[in-house]
Amino acid sequence: MKLLQYRDKEIAILPGVYEPAEDSFLMVEAVLREVKRSDNILEIGTGSGIVSMFIGDIARVIGTDISLKAVKCARLNGIDVIRTDLFDGIKFKREFDLIVFNPPYLPSEDQKTDMDVLWDGGSSGREIINRFLDQVKNYLTDDGRMLLLVSSLTGIEQLIEKMRSLDLVVDEIISEKHFFERLVVLRGALR
Ligand SMILES: C[S@@+](CC[C@H](N)C(=O)[O-])C[C@H]1O[C@@H](n2cnc3c(N)ncnc32)[C@H](O)[C@@H]1O
Repeated sequence: MKLLQYRDKEIAILPGVYEPAEDSFLMVEAVLREVKRSDNILEIGTGSGIVSMFIGDIARVIGTDISLKAVKCARLNGIDVIRTDLFDGIKFKREFDLIVFNPPYLPSEDQKTDMDVLWDGGSSGREIINRFLDQVKNYLTDDGRMLLLVSSLTGIEQLIEKMRSLDLVVDEIISEKHFFERLVVLRGALR
C-alpha cells in the first residue's frame, strides 16, 4: 500500500487502484469551488476516494466504483461507497444536488486487462461518459448540477454538445494545460 500526501490529507492507495494524478487534483480544485454545505453529493468512480475526502469536509457524499479494489481502498480512506456500474446500485432518484465524475477517458482499441477499467473510455474515449450522461438527470434534484472531468483527447466539444442536447447549461469551470492534453472540468446544470 502507498500513502500519498495531498494538501492536508494522507490518502492510502491500494495496488490496482487508480493513483491520483493531475486529473484527480483538478477535480479536487473544482469541487472546492462548487460544493455548498447543504449539498447532497454522489461521486461516480471514486477510486481511492481522494475527491470525496475533500467533499466530505464540506458536505454529505457517497461514492460508487465498479472495481472491488477501489471500493476497499475508498472505504479505507473513510468514504461511504457502493460497488456498482455507474448508477445501477443507486436507488435514490432525483436526490442529489451535485454528481461528480472523473471518468476513464482515454481512447483505446478494446479493454485488455483488469487495469484498463481505470482509464479506458472505449474506442472514442467517450463510451462510459456517454452512458453516464444518458442517466445523470434521473438522479439530480430539480436544480441539480454535475461536474465532469474531460480531456482534449476525449473530444471536449462533442461532450459539450451532448450535454446541451440533454438541456444542461454547460460551463467550463476550470482547466489546465499539460504536455499532451488539456484537462477541463465541465459543469452541467439543470437551471
Ligand atoms: C480516472 S479514475 C478516477 C478515480 C478518482 N475519482 C480520482 O479522481 O482519482 C476512474 C475511476 O472510475 C472507475 N470506473 C470505471 N468504470 C466505471 C463504471 N462503469 N462505473 C463506476 N466506476 C467506474 C474506475 O474503477 C476508476 O476508479
